[in-house]
Amino acid sequence: MEIKTDFLVIGSGIAGLSFALKAARYGEVTIVTKKAMVDTSTNLAQGGIAAVTGPDDSFELHIADTLRSGDGLSRPDVVGLVVKEAPERIKELVDIGVQFTTRPENQTHFDLGKEGGHSRRRIVHAQDLTGQEIERALVARTRENPRITIYENHVAIDLLTRGKLLKKKGKDNQETCFGAYVLDTQTGSIHTFLARITLLCTGGAGKVYLYTSNPDIATGDGMAMAYRAGARMANMEFVQFHPTCLYHPKAKNFLISEAVRGEGGILIDKHGRAFMEKYDLLKDLALRDAVARAIDAELKKSGDDCVYLDISHRPADFIKNRFPNIYQKCLSLGIDITGEPIPVVPAAHYMCGGILTDIYARSSIAGLYAIGETACTGLHGANRLASNSLLEAVVFAHQALLSSIEEIGPKSSYTPPSVPPWDPGGAVDLQESVLISHNWDGIRRLMWNYVGIVRTDKRLALAQKRLDFMQKEIQQHYWDYIITGDFLELRNLATVAELIVTCALLRKESRGLHYNLDHLSKDDAHYKKDTIIWRQ
Ligand code: SIN
Repeated sequence: MEIKTDFLVIGSGIAGLSFALKAARYGEVTIVTKKAMVDTSTNLAQGGIAAVTGPDDSFELHIADTLRSGDGLSRPDVVGLVVKEAPERIKELVDIGVQFTTRPENQTHFDLGKEGGHSRRRIVHAQDLTGQEIERALVARTRENPRITIYENHVAIDLLTRGKLLKKKGKDNQETCFGAYVLDTQTGSIHTFLARITLLCTGGAGKVYLYTSNPDIATGDGMAMAYRAGARMANMEFVQFHPTCLYHPKAKNFLISEAVRGEGGILIDKHGRAFMEKYDLLKDLALRDAVARAIDAELKKSGDDCVYLDISHRPADFIKNRFPNIYQKCLSLGIDITGEPIPVVPAAHYMCGGILTDIYARSSIAGLYAIGETACTGLHGANRLASNSLLEAVVFAHQALLSSIEEIGPKSSYTPPSVPPWDPGGAVDLQESVLISHNWDGIRRLMWNYVGIVRTDKRLALAQKRLDFMQKEIQQHYWDYIITGDFLELRNLATVAELIVTCALLRKESRGLHYNLDHLSKDDAHYKKDTIIWRQ
């Protein structure tokens, strides 16, 4: 089947749906998402959206906090844009029906949360289910829009580019994207989606690590596809580990929001001793990289499996009302957080790097845009400030709209390229799933042990060697076997792992989230710049 559309949106989180709803005013929009619409990282986001709305706050303060967190690598023009656009973009979310928590005494004012690294209370939230509330409203508006067609259970395989199809690039040697080959995971058919504008909004790649707060879909699909197509990638070494994921054998990927520390939660060891004051003047509200490294150091010293986060000194009613989701989840596992501390460990949470984009979300490939976690816009630099990511997604969805409606021009002047249907060659069914699961486990364990919170040159070099070997095997499977959704995720995960290791090896210093025991200090003279790589 060949599907022609104006805007092909790959991914259905806050970035993709915000763009789709706006773009539908200008053309036909097609959304491809690999599971159900709500299977996104957005849907799991607890904390909220950072924005200047309080009387004691200012754009200057939010900008300064973001730049401090970015540790020298955030782009000041991008930070200024995102911070200043925030109130307007949040108003748009309210207009489409998102219900943020308001103050009990004044329903016209948002209840503002506090998180690490923020000098003011500025987190707009919906209790501790902010992402779910945003996703609910966006999905509802998207489903009722007649100009948007949704393909669930469809996973993009690779981008269609001029270089790949016609074996030549455009003028100035620039690559152009025309859409993607897409696998329907329920029927196994592969379709051609031709688009005038293609947007990658596929989220992050937390699944590249053994322990992560991310949902199962977070396998770096957009990043890997863009890299294979030749797009510039940036800062893949900056992987943010969230300090506090629930540690329990029955809890998969469950986050204990940073807002818990914002409301007074204290990290303690198994003897009940608070330890953050040994590591950072800001104690429990230090930046995430500092808190995650402190927990890592405590665990390595004690040999314990977890540390604890204690909020039980706050009134029980406050805890239940502010954190209903966390309270219920913990209670279902036998932990009453109003009376006892929560066992927690750090886990991979957010990719600060990704597809390099400009201020209009354009990648280095014509016709290809990237927004949300899959992009590297210059906002987060070396370490993302908490709750700046949902904000980045809505701001850059708007930026992408401004540019893409200019880029597509009148429909009458557009002739879609002629693209051959997918050719499976001599591929046969993969009879043994162990060929996938073995490498899947291997990559995630390797990345956790060798490319985690604290790195060394030796471990990075070993990881590179092993990944290189696995990549060759995976590439061979790609030619030999009929493609499945699981296999595509493995292939993308391996590519993203390789990109993280390559960038980490290139940065011979410690900065933000990249902490290397062989290069402990920051080296502004050589490394105060993005790490940019691309496939030659
Ligand atoms: C959290 O609630 O701690 C996550 C917020 C974020 O990652 O920005």
